[in-house]
Amino acid sequence: MKTSEIRIAPSILSADFSRLGEEVRAIEAAGADLVHFDVMDNHYVPNLTIGPLVCEAIRPHVTIPIDVHLMVEPVDALIPLFAKAGANFITFHPEASRHVDRTLSLIREHGCKAGLVFNPAMPLDLLDYVMDKIDMVLLMSVNPGFAGQKFIPSTLTKLTAVRARIDAHQAAGGHNIWLEVDGGVRADNIGVIRQAGADTFVAGSAVFSAPDPDKGYRTIMQQLRAQALNL
Ligand code: DX5
Ligand code: ZN
Repeated sequence: MKTSEIRIAPSILSADFSRLGEEVRAIEAAGADLVHFDVMDNHYVPNLTIGPLVCEAIRPHVTIPIDVHLMVEPVDALIPLFAKAGANFITFHPEASRHVDRTLSLIREHGCKAGLVFNPAMPLDLLDYVMDKIDMVLLMSVNPGFAGQKFIPSTLTKLTAVRARIDAHQAAGGHNIWLEVDGGVRADNIGVIRQAGADTFVAGSAVFSAPDPDKGYRTIMQQLRAQALNL
């Protein structure tokens, strides 16, 4: 992995929803690489957030990719809607789809990059069969549903295991797959998380708790990047 290859993806779950357009513009101006967009349905997870209409509404406000994290069950019906709403990445939890391979194909058929999300206690076995169909692996470092939770340390071992799989896939001539981590990422742990193999970092409360959107977001994003790269 090259040192330049790290990406910060602020999760708008912790943004001020009454001024979402300004918030996403502010994070792009502050150096964000992706907008992380958390979709919760009060069925797969015990919380309810935002859907395709909100994705469509923020799309014209940013040029960076929108990284849609679906915490919904079932999954498939929402894929065309999010693709139409301007999503670039769509990730889902495999246990929320009856036919994981089909859902992955559906995402790519709609012109988006596809990814699988693994909860803290979910094994990685099914990765063996889908490496050529995914563009991203997202490891949850908290149980999904809420911002502001504490990073679960066993995620580090799991990141190392996924990193080894991705590197082996690439060494065998496969394409690059991004390794994203989501939950409890802050300046004081992002360094070890990167060392364990992550290259893409979701940060919700860490970024949006900054006191002022313009300077504050930029400062936190710079700190996260510096700590991740051990500068
Ligand atoms: C949790 C969401 C996360 C969350 C991260 O279910 O998927 O994206 O917003 O928030 P922090 O960074 O505050 O843990
Ligand atoms: Zn998320």
